[in-house]
Amino acid sequence: MTPILNTPAWKHAERHAHGLRDVHLRDLFAHDPTRFARLSVRWNPGAGESWLLDLSKQRITPETLPILAGLWESADVPGWIAKMRAGEPINHTEGRAVLHTALRHAGGPVKVGGHDVMPDVQAVLAKMRDFCRAVHSGQWRGATGETITDVVNIGIGGSDLGPRMATQALAAHHLGHLRVHYVANVDSADLATILHGLSPQRTLFIIASKTFTTQETMQNARSARDWLTTTLGEAAVARHFVAVSTALDKVAAFGIDTDNAFAFWDWVGGRFSLWSAIGLPLALAIGFECFEALLAGAREMDNHFFTAPPLENLPALLALIELWNADFISLQTRAVLPYSQSLGLLPRYLQQLEMESLGKQIDRDGKLVGCPTLPIIWGEPGTNGQHAFYQLLHQGGRALSCEFIACKEADFPLPGHHEKLLANCFAQSAALMKGKTLEEASQELTAVPSAPTFLAPYKIFPGNQPSTTLLLPRLDPYTLGALIALYEHKVFTLGVLWHLDAFDQWGVEYGKQIANSLLPMIEGTSPVADVDSSTAGLIAACKS
Ligand code: F6P
Repeated sequence: MTPILNTPAWKHAERHAHGLRDVHLRDLFAHDPTRFARLSVRWNPGAGESWLLDLSKQRITPETLPILAGLWESADVPGWIAKMRAGEPINHTEGRAVLHTALRHAGGPVKVGGHDVMPDVQAVLAKMRDFCRAVHSGQWRGATGETITDVVNIGIGGSDLGPRMATQALAAHHLGHLRVHYVANVDSADLATILHGLSPQRTLFIIASKTFTTQETMQNARSARDWLTTTLGEAAVARHFVAVSTALDKVAAFGIDTDNAFAFWDWVGGRFSLWSAIGLPLALAIGFECFEALLAGAREMDNHFFTAPPLENLPALLALIELWNADFISLQTRAVLPYSQSLGLLPRYLQQLEMESLGKQIDRDGKLVGCPTLPIIWGEPGTNGQHAFYQLLHQGGRALSCEFIACKEADFPLPGHHEKLLANCFAQSAALMKGKTLEEASQELTAVPSAPTFLAPYKIFPGNQPSTTLLLPRLDPYTLGALIALYEHKVFTLGVLWHLDAFDQWGVEYGKQIANSLLPMIEGTSPVADVDSSTAGLIAACKS
């Protein structure tokens, strides 16, 4: 296959980018009053109001997106979508299919290796539904006959970030029956502070791990079990521990009854697993009907991604803009800035989804991709970030892209708040775009009689910082489902464009391997050997 860098579409994009090198966003706006209309896209999901994706503040012209769409064709994204949907092992380094879309599919069979996975998917969803109802109704009780008031999900990475982010995002939709907590870190402060104040008689643990071998999760699970059995005895485990995993044999070996286990499958990547039983703590928080609405929203986005042409296709557009910024404008970071307190964990969630998927340089043929891949992703909700790091965005002299996400309606409405939130969101993208010249700064100062004119240089804003704004109707389960699926398909598209396997994560293995070899040295069960002097010094300092 021709590397993307050698395709005519790539060369065309390079020439186009060269022509735009010295163009400022404020001039692009000044010269084209129709710019917003030409560079924003609306999407009407089947069961909801329209979304707005505003790309007009990106450093592009109306010609750019059609040029970039040539890359979608050159890389044969539609062909790769077909392979994914056909259950081909497109996670080629692990020899696995990639079918998280089957978890929210409605309709005909979805086959992996000739086997229709849909009956298995539906059986686990039915088991989740029954379990949620049993816990909510009080039919499921702890070992002493008490009803459950607190659920503690123990998992990390994909077995934590998705349900944790969505549980926070959908706080307005919580049933209120249960408090749902999340423990991820092997630092005992995480588990200890959550357990503090909980009653063992009324607490249910969900041990969530695709592999059921992850060090952090297994340690937290053992400590949680000790906490429970110290008060209630070993026999209580069956009423207070359930598991979510692809490795049911390991669940049984840990001592959890497999009747209390919820399966998923190796064709679901950890960071794409929210839709599986990994979503159980979320379903307990919001109720199974709301969880089904989340699946329905994701399904709507799947249909959109599978069928819309690239210039109307939201995941495709986000992917093409990311590629443009990374490879043609050389931006090295992207700030994810939700103007929604409830979406506060979205940046963290996207860090795993995008950086674990695309933080790679070796392509599917074992060769260097040859161009920068995913920028560093970080972010915080607005307006808080404005009072922390936005100074650098405006005047720090670093080029980066920003992604603003806002909702037309508040999820916890209080008079006077939401208008201010939106005003700040739109103000920031406007300021980043147009900046302020020395002349404008000086004029502002001279308009105020007592203002010190020496301040003018400090009030210059270079501007020309590109941003995307995604305006959602509201934050409800359906919309959130579609939003997460949007980013999943963006990741898929970029994987195809960069010819990467977006579904493996070899880069996380090396550190785990070294940690395993250091552990006995820190525990004192093996001598400190075969380590560099810094590591040896750190271990010695801990033991002294
Ligand atoms: O270390 C990375 C990782 O493998 C992630 O990809 C995964 O989501 C996380 O660890 C947790 O893995 P598991 O669900 O198997 O415990």
